[in-house]
Amino acid sequence: MKRFLLPIALLVALNGHAQRVDSLALTPPMGWNTYNTFAGNFNEELLREMVDLLVSSGMKDAGYAYVIVDDNWTGPRDSLGFLTVDAKRFPSGLKALSEYIHAKGLKLGLYSDAGYKTCGGYTASRGHEFQDALMFARLGADYLKYDWCNAEGINAVGAYTTMRDALLAAKRPMVFSMCEWGNNKPWLWGAGIGHLWRTTGDITACWDCIDDHGGKYNSYGVMQILDMQEGLRAYAGPGHWNDPDMLEVGNGTLTVSESRAHFSLWCMLAAPLIAGNDLRTMSKTTLEILTNKEAVAIDQDSLGIQGFRQTNADSLEIWYKPLKGGDWAVCFVNRGSKAATIGHDWKKNVIRDDLSKRELNCAQQRYVLRDLWKKKKVGVTSDVLESTIGSHDVLMLRLMK
Ligand code: GLA
Repeated sequence: MKRFLLPIALLVALNGHAQRVDSLALTPPMGWNTYNTFAGNFNEELLREMVDLLVSSGMKDAGYAYVIVDDNWTGPRDSLGFLTVDAKRFPSGLKALSEYIHAKGLKLGLYSDAGYKTCGGYTASRGHEFQDALMFARLGADYLKYDWCNAEGINAVGAYTTMRDALLAAKRPMVFSMCEWGNNKPWLWGAGIGHLWRTTGDITACWDCIDDHGGKYNSYGVMQILDMQEGLRAYAGPGHWNDPDMLEVGNGTLTVSESRAHFSLWCMLAAPLIAGNDLRTMSKTTLEILTNKEAVAIDQDSLGIQGFRQTNADSLEIWYKPLKGGDWAVCFVNRGSKAATIGHDWKKNVIRDDLSKRELNCAQQRYVLRDLWKKKKVGVTSDVLESTIGSHDVLMLRLMK
């Protein structure tokens, strides 16, 4: 029977769908990616600096494991059709950076695209999927982000399935991040194919705005992206995550409270936590937000249940996320322009989550409240919670049994 033992990654028929079964992303992937701050302005020197800073800042210890080189790293194909690496950016070769990353205990993420060209106009994988997957494996990649620019009407399920099969054939375990912007509802079919799928177009570093890039395409602020997650939670779980795009914590026009709220909400959503800020200039506050281990623990909770919004009144939202062992995360979000004073009676309403079959009934069960940003106990659910929440800020609590 031994020869029938399960390989690391295999496909089984589950509910009629091919399903990828592996343990590469049992919790949402965490890392750092070049794109949000640097777009095409990076080279090997800058990346080595980022790697060093990921370690020395404590981000690695907080869980940020993948260093993801986004668009703009590929050169032309060689005479045999293999991808080359942009020699100007990587005079020592990408393999050298890969070794540097691995020697620091981190992992390498690479980027490609399902079209002939990436969004930035660089060589992409269409027609060379198996050859490129081999190259990613040779370069020591542990993660592939696969974009959707210049896809020219090709079938999304087919394109992402082809690259999944190519990655499996290359025999190096790689997290597969499907960056298809939600165009073809990847939450409906992605679980068998990738470990995470983008649910929206690109994020931009503002609280509540849309940037239309002169009519070419839209990028969305944090609140816009948040609202686009409605109805998707049932599709996420260990090994297959909704991806509301990378973090803008510490970037653009986001204030400290907005960055904190953005981070808290991504944790409530069980979103991949891929930082995208300049680690050389990051403020102490930005670092404190990104490395708040108690907030990260909400994101990384092993049950892998995406949180949900329960009320939406007077610009105040309450988000709930059931956690392993009977705890809950609860996040009050003030989307309004003025501070909000709350008097929250935990015993008044029973919160039922049909998806996880969990119930928060504070009339029957008393929980201790831990404020995850003040990092202290702030009461119990048998008392009414009195608090003032600043504009565009959150009160994020762990309810502990
Ligand atoms: C698309 C993706 C982004 C980024 C850029 C790179 O817009 O959605 O996340 O990868 O391409 O050009």
